[in-house]
Amino acid sequence: MTLVDVDRERIRRINEGEATLQEPGLQELIRDGLAQDRLRATTELGPAVMGSDVSILSVGTPLRKGRIDLSFVRGAAEEVGRALRTVGRYHVVVVKSTVVPGTTQTVLRPVLEETSGMRAGAFGLCVNPEFLREGSAVRDFMDPDRIVIGAWDDRCALVLERLYESFSCPKLRTSLAEAELGKYVSNALLATLISFSNEIAGLCEGLPDTDVETVMGSVHLDRRLTALHEGLHVPVGICAYLRAGAGFGGSCLPKDVGALRAHARERGIPTRLLDAVAQVNRHRAEIIVRLTGQLLGSLRGRTIAQLGLAFKPGTDDLRDSPAITILKRLRSSGADVRVYDPVVPSSGDPALRRVVLASSPEEALEGVDAALIVTDWPQFSEWDWGSLSSRMRQPVIIDARNTLRRTRLPDHILYRPIGRCLGSDG
Ligand code: UGA
Repeated sequence: MTLVDVDRERIRRINEGEATLQEPGLQELIRDGLAQDRLRATTELGPAVMGSDVSILSVGTPLRKGRIDLSFVRGAAEEVGRALRTVGRYHVVVVKSTVVPGTTQTVLRPVLEETSGMRAGAFGLCVNPEFLREGSAVRDFMDPDRIVIGAWDDRCALVLERLYESFSCPKLRTSLAEAELGKYVSNALLATLISFSNEIAGLCEGLPDTDVETVMGSVHLDRRLTALHEGLHVPVGICAYLRAGAGFGGSCLPKDVGALRAHARERGIPTRLLDAVAQVNRHRAEIIVRLTGQLLGSLRGRTIAQLGLAFKPGTDDLRDSPAITILKRLRSSGADVRVYDPVVPSSGDPALRRVVLASSPEEALEGVDAALIVTDWPQFSEWDWGSLSSRMRQPVIIDARNTLRRTRLPDHILYRPIGRCLGSDG
């Protein structure tokens, strides 16, 4: 297998056995591949295509001005197409990048046909979306729920089915557009569940004697969400998205909901529910910052320890992280913010310019008026809050992820989780 990228430095590091992003198991996978001579990385796309039977396009498709930017994937398709001219045997091009429905058929196919001088069919064309989560990407890939194969024709579908032969999960054969849309719909469902839960949190915050954790707990116990297996209640994975929090972020959910809405809008198709999902998510940071301000009387001149920066635990990824939005809002409201995250490095990201990054929980909490948890890092519930709170000017914790809900905290700490009515906790 040959990995191709335009970034020379990234290629150099991979060839030296280094994973260029934080992902459990990735480093080992790269090292094994190199040691067994089954993996190499290069910036030369042409020779890589010529030496293989399948090319998988998995370049980024970022959102620009609210629409998906296809320039990278189009550029990669052009190069692959040019290389196909000299391959001299049947070759399958697989689109793994997330692209709006119709892109492979109406944008990438013409590019490939023009640059290769061949018609689709003479080369294979498939859409094979990925459903990996950051932080468990290797595990998700090795043990997938399903493999979706959108195919131009039977011949190329068969090549992909053979490629994935050793995987025992269901393999779903679809049209190119269904595979493209299925990926968006999958993420749109997760985003919808999150915004739904956050809306219920808001309801609970305004309704005396209600707590979102209890209310959603009763919903989770529905057997359609929690299976009864040998007398044990086992919640299905999707329940993880039915928890209130600081909103969804990352490189996928916000981008995919945005791209799908824009794509539908251009075709005159209404997406009222997804519009509301995005709107609820946009307001999440504002609600959390307002809650913090209410609790402290005012944010102006207050020092706050923001705990967490990554868009979710298990990663150092800051892309579209709700924590960055919250940080900016806190600062524009006049608060002095000190940030601590267990893995986000202390330099580099432009979003962190002029931000004080603490290197330990002690440093983060020294003399602050409140701690605000915005990423659900499990470490936070293992901290010795009794000792840490003695460093704080005021022992106040605002928990925007409900991370410490089940942690025993000393009585002198004022603990404010989300989704609980301000007037009901005494
Ligand atoms: C997501 C999907 O889960 C994957 O199936 C998909 O393959 C991937 O996007 C992709 O399109 O490539 P990922 O972005 O890694 O994966 O993150 P998730 O674990 O789904 O979390 C997304 C966001 O939702 C995070 O900000 C997380 O904190 C938030 N979230 C999650 C909540 O706010 N509440 C929850 O209950 C669960």
